[in-house]
Amino acid sequence: SLPQSIKIVEVSPRDGLQNESQVIAVNDKVQLINDLRTAGVKHIEVTGFVSPKWVPQLADAQEVARQLAPDEDVVYSALTPNMKGFEAAMDSGIKEVAVFTAASETFNQKNINCSIEESFERFAPILEQAKQQNIKVRGYVSCVLGCPYEGDIDSEQVAAVSEKLFAMGCYEISLGDTIGVGTPLKAQRMFAQVAKRIPTNSLAVHFHDTYGQALANILACIQEGARIIDASVAGLGGCPYAPGASGNVSTEDVVYMLHGMDIKTGIDLDKLITAGQNISKVLGRSVNSKVANACRSS
Ligand code: HMG
Ligand code: MG
Repeated sequence: SLPQSIKIVEVSPRDGLQNESQVIAVNDKVQLINDLRTAGVKHIEVTGFVSPKWVPQLADAQEVARQLAPDEDVVYSALTPNMKGFEAAMDSGIKEVAVFTAASETFNQKNINCSIEESFERFAPILEQAKQQNIKVRGYVSCVLGCPYEGDIDSEQVAAVSEKLFAMGCYEISLGDTIGVGTPLKAQRMFAQVAKRIPTNSLAVHFHDTYGQALANILACIQEGARIIDASVAGLGGCPYAPGASGNVSTEDVVYMLHGMDIKTGIDLDKLITAGQNISKVLGRSVNSKVANACRSS
């Protein structure tokens, strides 16, 4: 049966902007975050405390974090690949972090310069510190339906990596179709495989729309029990270490679909569209969301 509500995790300030080569001012990033808040978005991944040599666009992580408007109703989270990133996030007042690894060895090497096993070793002190400081930690698994370097990925490997993160203390595991190659039945089977080991209310789905399959995959996973969806306003995004990866599924399209199915998100679609228009204007491009474009031209 369908749920009454779904949690949307907005990743545009991080996943959306990390791949941009043009300089985006801190003010514009903070404006995007505030526009999202105004639209009722409650979970916003605001930045990544990653190496500026690897991801130059997020070199301003501390600045962005410091300019966040205090808001008790909103959770601001940030990526932290290692203790250095975690400590910087804590210094900047961040209250929820995310660690990230992959179901593909090659992708993990290219993305965070270590093996999957080594990534767990890096995360262990983060999870320990986070527990002491009452900081929630999300865990990402990339390449759950395919890898740009290794091709097909076994769902059993996805389940094993997810289970390990969950056992280490991650409260939520986000399953990332990094390059958007998944199709609905494969997505469903993968989700079901992971759900054998982790309660579905701790699983998020993170689809990139590279092949136009994201909405279909999301619906397929909802039918399998998914209740947490990652999305990016205006379809912004891509991963610098996943050649050809395009944006995440656009939040406008997800919200329209869910509301049309009487599933609540707490988000005001019209204000969300405004948020997408504003950041797209900053980037000098048109909004990459069918729903946004349809609503504003009708
Ligand atoms: P490394 O080079 O192996 O790290 O990078 P290192 O420990 O050897 O340090 C090298 C240099 O980086 C040193 O500086 C460190 O201080 C510095 P130097 O002495 O040379 O001047 N450094 C840092 N600086 C700032 N913040 C840090 C940090 N750590 C080290 N936290 C590392 C390893 C993990 C740092 C690097 O590979 C990295 O930052 N990778 C990030 C890659 C990334 O952000 N990818 C995109 C996000 S993942 C994604 O998009 C997928 C997702 O959306 C889900 C999906 O779609 O599948 C989540
Ligand atoms: Mg992503």
